[in-house]
Amino acid sequence: MEIPDLSSMKLPSRPELFDFEGVSMVHYFTDNWEKVKNFQARPDDILIATYPKAGTTWVSYILDLLYFGNDAPERQTSQPIYTRVPFLESCFKVIPSGTELADNLSTSPRLIKTHLPVQLVPKSFWEQNSKIVYVARNAKDNAVSYFHFDRMNMGEPEPGDWNTFLQKFVEGKKVFGSWFDHVNGWWEKKQTYSNLLYMFYEDLVEDTGCEVARLCSFLGLSTSVEERVKITKGVQFDAMKQNKMTNYSTLPVMDFKISPFMRKGKVGDWKNHFTVAQNEQFDEVYKQKMKNTTVKFRTEI
Ligand code: PPS
Repeated sequence: MEIPDLSSMKLPSRPELFDFEGVSMVHYFTDNWEKVKNFQARPDDILIATYPKAGTTWVSYILDLLYFGNDAPERQTSQPIYTRVPFLESCFKVIPSGTELADNLSTSPRLIKTHLPVQLVPKSFWEQNSKIVYVARNAKDNAVSYFHFDRMNMGEPEPGDWNTFLQKFVEGKKVFGSWFDHVNGWWEKKQTYSNLLYMFYEDLVEDTGCEVARLCSFLGLSTSVEERVKITKGVQFDAMKQNKMTNYSTLPVMDFKISPFMRKGKVGDWKNHFTVAQNEQFDEVYKQKMKNTTVKFRTEI
């Protein structure tokens, strides 16, 4: 499929947030809903699911290299990651929608990205028993990363200042809804759906090689140690930041002068943003909202 030249891609003014089936959304992710809802998944599809800013691009690139790094090296230099791994629910009009891109993918397996909370995932993924890799990131760093993303991405609602943003994050009034509902909903799903691997951004930072090996084992891939070492090196933050095909620099809706997509890639940057008071209030809310789940996050490593 022809991907149009994106250099002239412009989005109108920032979108408004609204309630969609109980989840805060913007129209870019609901305009194509009939097609998203009825999307036909395949048994060998691999869905990469995350709350925004939890490590989607990182895991997408790892999977792309694991599956296609050797067979189709030209993919790595000619196609940005967002066309190699379509964003299922996206409908930006100026580029083909996520469902269109996914329907036209000629690869097997197809790698597909989504930020949908578990209850909104098209039912065919469950019916086909497709493999799903969920990546979660601790709430504090996730919030910080999301804040900077909203500042620079004209496709997102205005974030306001950090304090305003944090308040909205806590209330779940962000695109794709509440972080708490998202990570807890997917964690619960993992208890009954065995084809779901639940990963943590913090583990990826701490030991990327180990997580690459976990991914291989989950996906049933017999990759050599040398290959895994090579991939682990190629997906480090600095390498991905320099790589035009993975750093989103080809998407003009993002203003890198405000903040780059590949921003810091760290665990614990929240300490540079949260005041003592914000941190205490956040910890209180966190305790309350996470009291019924067994999922545990690390805010430092
Ligand atoms: S998106 O827009 O939701 O798809 O964004 P997503 O890719 O999920 O998250 C972006 C954050 O992930 C960081 N990132 C990485 N960190 C460490 N190593 C590698 N290789 C890497 N690749 C992406 C990216 O820098 C964003 O986090 P912050 O904290 O903003 O730097």
